[in-house]
Amino acid sequence: MDSPTDSALALQKEIEALLPGRLPRVEVHAALGSTQDRARELALSGAPEGSLIVALEQTAGRGRQGRSFYSPAGTGVYMSLVLRPRSLERPEEITITAAVATARAVESVTGERARIKWVNDVYLRGKKVSGILTEGGLLPNGSPWAALGVGVNLLPPEGGFPAELRETVGALAEESGARALRGPLIARIAEGYLTLYADANGDELLREYRERDVLRGRMLDIIQGERTRQAVVLGVSEDFGLRVRDAGGEEETLRSGEVHLRPARGETTWQQKLP
Ligand code: BTN
Repeated sequence: MDSPTDSALALQKEIEALLPGRLPRVEVHAALGSTQDRARELALSGAPEGSLIVALEQTAGRGRQGRSFYSPAGTGVYMSLVLRPRSLERPEEITITAAVATARAVESVTGERARIKWVNDVYLRGKKVSGILTEGGLLPNGSPWAALGVGVNLLPPEGGFPAELRETVGALAEESGARALRGPLIARIAEGYLTLYADANGDELLREYRERDVLRGRMLDIIQGERTRQAVVLGVSEDFGLRVRDAGGEEETLRSGEVHLRPARGETTWQQKLP
């Protein structure tokens, strides 16, 4: 059997062969704390946009809102892209573009329809199979940088997902042969993201995002600090917020990062309600 380092090298060669000359730099590591930390390091030291960092395992994978992202060896895709956005005013635009690129990539390797839960989760067969994390900041000269992180569960880890994730988290496949999907999936997500982002066709992006939207029509508990209220989801707005209407008929647009959402009491989970 290959050592993890050999596999990292083989995966790096595979990605480079799938995307010849498309990415300025491809790094595949046997293990990292978080590919986001490496992307940040590269972004701060001048690496060009589109530099790709992949790890076969993460020991400190992180998700949104301070959560960790379970990243065991060999069963998932853990990748980050260095970006040089014009501005960081709307980081959710990066996340939403990545969600569409990831959903398309998942569909292309599984042949099944993927869904998106605002703002950053990709679902397959009713379970979360991928999460997206956008982080960024300004260089000393004021130019923005971002690290776009995507994690995809290719297979369930040995012994299954931890008990607290089992109900909600799934994988693209059950058979170990699915490991062969890792290279193509990474290449499609990276290429798909960079192409969608360069085309900047907001209408097409929104249309695709809305078509896969899991939350539209659902009743939610919206948790903002100490306050929880109920509202029905109207859909994703043109500027990538979540349009909701509360019981009093008042409408508002929620921004990602500010709110935590869960199915309202009496509603089934997103998983069970998915078509
Ligand atoms: C979430 O579901 O809240 C987002 C999860 C993002 C996970 C990816 S895996 C690659 C990159 N490195 C990390 O530490 N996180 C992102």
